[in-house]
Amino acid sequence: MATIGRARAVAPVKDAALARFIAGMPKAEYHVHLEGTLEAEMKFALARRNGLQLPFADVAAMKASYRYHDLPSFLAIYYDGMKVLLREQDFYDLTYAYLAKAAAQNVIYTEMFFDPQEHLKRGVPMAAVIGGISRARRDARTRLGIRSQLILCFVRDLSAQSAMDALDTGLAFRKDLVGVGLDSDEAGNPPEKFRAHFAKARAHGLRVTAHCDVDQDDTLGHIRTALLDLKVDRIDHGGNIVESPELVALARQRGMFFTVCPTFSGTLRKGLATPVDVVRAMLDAGLNVTISSDDPAYMGSEYLDDVLIRAADRSALTRTEIVTLARNGFRAAWLPEAEKQAMLARLNAYVQRADHS
Ligand code: ADE
Ligand code: ZN
Repeated sequence: MATIGRARAVAPVKDAALARFIAGMPKAEYHVHLEGTLEAEMKFALARRNGLQLPFADVAAMKASYRYHDLPSFLAIYYDGMKVLLREQDFYDLTYAYLAKAAAQNVIYTEMFFDPQEHLKRGVPMAAVIGGISRARRDARTRLGIRSQLILCFVRDLSAQSAMDALDTGLAFRKDLVGVGLDSDEAGNPPEKFRAHFAKARAHGLRVTAHCDVDQDDTLGHIRTALLDLKVDRIDHGGNIVESPELVALARQRGMFFTVCPTFSGTLRKGLATPVDVVRAMLDAGLNVTISSDDPAYMGSEYLDDVLIRAADRSALTRTEIVTLARNGFRAAWLPEAEKQAMLARLNAYVQRADHS
């Protein structure tokens, strides 16, 4: 995992034409934690509104504290930051702000994660969490034209019972959810801990995805279980799969999509003399890669365009590969086929126009 806990400068752009092409391209995003879009400025505004005192003098001091070197050290900062989210309006403001940024970058469709157990723990009712997010989704669709859906994530290092309670509470809002996911600290929390949760979610018609963060203990075991046992519909991150020709073949055969976040886990390092570029290695292995921003507020405020432009530079992506990543984005959608085809048609029209200009 890269050491990335610091403010970044604007992404370097070696190929300005490619950057313009990326910026104008219709895009989808699947791996974005809403709480990870909580910018420092909004944290201060919400703290003020909710009568909370934050242990930072100002935005700059808060951002300077975003220093982490692995998943647990990142998660500690991320969970601490979300404590300012208390009321329905807070979840509305958080969600609308992300959707407005995404729409401004020509993201036309997104499926967003949220971590309800963390909010329930603080006494925030599920109705406030999902209610605020859903109201913002509706407003953003009407006002900004961005379509979105919501994925309830299980916080895997809390108890299995806590995750089941969150699922049961969340099912009262079934119409507002498209799927369930699995995030947080992977150490000692393999996907099979959530077998019953995934089965119940599926029985309610929800789709299933799971984080297999890069370079975690038994990462390949987790990917294998997610694919073979839990039969997930997507994998979030999953970069270590390139170390296993058997799992690569299985994922290809299944047409599995991976939501890769190069800002957070763009490099495989564990035990390797030479680090491996995850995006390049997964594309070269013939896997269905999509690109996402993960937790942009904690990753230099780089949203999808910035992430794609940086990835294009770093992984030497051609324009054809960029278009493949965007097409994978729409193909991976948990939407009816006709809607996916309509989005793909928008992308194809954009590419054709760009080819002839
Ligand atoms: N929660 C928020 N971002 C995460 C990530 N990248 N991996 C696991 N859990 C997370
Ligand atoms: Zn994530």
